[in-house]
Amino acid sequence: MKILVVGGGGREHAVIKKLKENKEVEEIFALPGNGGIARDAKCVNIGATDIEGIVSFAVENGIDYAVVTPDDPLVLGCVNALEEKGIKCFGPRKEAAIIEGSKAFSKDLMKKYGIPTAEFETFSDMKKALSYLETAPIPTVIKADGLALGKGVIIAQTREEAKNAVISMMQDKAFGKSGETIVIEEFLEGPEVSVLAFTDGKTVKPMVSSMDHKRALDGDRGLNTGGMGTIAPNPYYSEAIAERCMKEIFLPTINAMNAEGRTFKGCLYFGLMITENGPKVIEYNCRFGDPETQVVLPLLESDLLTVMLATTNENLDETEVKFKDECACCVIMASEGYPVKYEKGFEIRIPSDIEDKVFVAGAKEENEKLLTNGGRVLGVTEIRNSLKEAIDASYEDVKKISFDNAFFRKDIGQRALLAAEV
Ligand code: AMP
Ligand code: GLY
Repeated sequence: MKILVVGGGGREHAVIKKLKENKEVEEIFALPGNGGIARDAKCVNIGATDIEGIVSFAVENGIDYAVVTPDDPLVLGCVNALEEKGIKCFGPRKEAAIIEGSKAFSKDLMKKYGIPTAEFETFSDMKKALSYLETAPIPTVIKADGLALGKGVIIAQTREEAKNAVISMMQDKAFGKSGETIVIEEFLEGPEVSVLAFTDGKTVKPMVSSMDHKRALDGDRGLNTGGMGTIAPNPYYSEAIAERCMKEIFLPTINAMNAEGRTFKGCLYFGLMITENGPKVIEYNCRFGDPETQVVLPLLESDLLTVMLATTNENLDETEVKFKDECACCVIMASEGYPVKYEKGFEIRIPSDIEDKVFVAGAKEENEKLLTNGGRVLGVTEIRNSLKEAIDASYEDVKKISFDNAFFRKDIGQRALLAAEV
């Protein structure tokens, strides 16, 4: 089988390493991939949003199955375009990817179908948004409607801050078109849990839960990033909570999408907050999370390609999705200054004995050397019987990897450890 993977981050590296475990897989192409992925797949210099380029490549190279993981190509209709040429895909069609592509859509969906989420109002008129803020409860949360690289969410602690956020999104267009419509929502409190789930539009099979660490600095301080590390499973996700989520959130979401004529197939990501009043949806993503995937897939015991094909062929109910009863920790090594300004081009040294634990994100290959080429450079994942051991092992690996200006959080998993002890 010839497989194409669209994307070029740590998440795609984790997907590719797992797909390679299946003996049916003859060849994997990554579009565009990166310098680290090049060691596990053939990288082709076609961008993840170049839908025409991706389709032409797939047709010309006799691709049997395409795995589309980043949000942009999914929202742009990459799966629709490939399917039109008869190429089977893992991932939702454009009509379903809107669940991430438009926060106004996903909030309306949840309201219409009674799926628990923060109270909210949607605005496309700035004056109305500003006047609403005169009396809205504070803190409040302002979200740009469209995709904004995870940066389109502002938690305003004061009325002034909230108004400034609205002005920067709607008048100054800080997020371009993504901020023309905004959602203002209730501030929720409680631990956050990420749950990725495979679905074929009928059956939902959740993966092991995980916890992201979104802020740049230790102690959850600093700016929001794409994610500085993850652990799995998430100790806040008890069996009782999992049962409630299935009944109150996962199945209702799949059914709601079907009722809207937008059947979702692929990986649906539920960003949840476990509030005093039960689990609520913070956000949906139409894809695997990054860096959640880097802890979730290494724990997958079942064959990834088989499960992916089951979502496409709609026989997920008969397909086993099993996870190891172990713990994983992924520590992201980034470039100093990320997520704002950072230098690139430094040589990365990874000892060969831990190479299989490393998922490369922002790196390029030059003269057989791996050089830093992005904010998040790589992630290191270790699996152990206990969370504590997994954390220690990941940090041992981090010590062995070096590049100039390397920067990483020292406390990945510490909050989960405390929670697990309670
Ligand atoms: P999102 O991109 O929607 O996941 O938001 C990014 C982060 O902002 C989330 O991971 C939460 O930590 C935080 N956040 C989003 N919505 C809310 C909310 N309604 N209440 C509190 N925190 C929120
Ligand atoms: N780690 C969060 C995301 O992938 O959006």
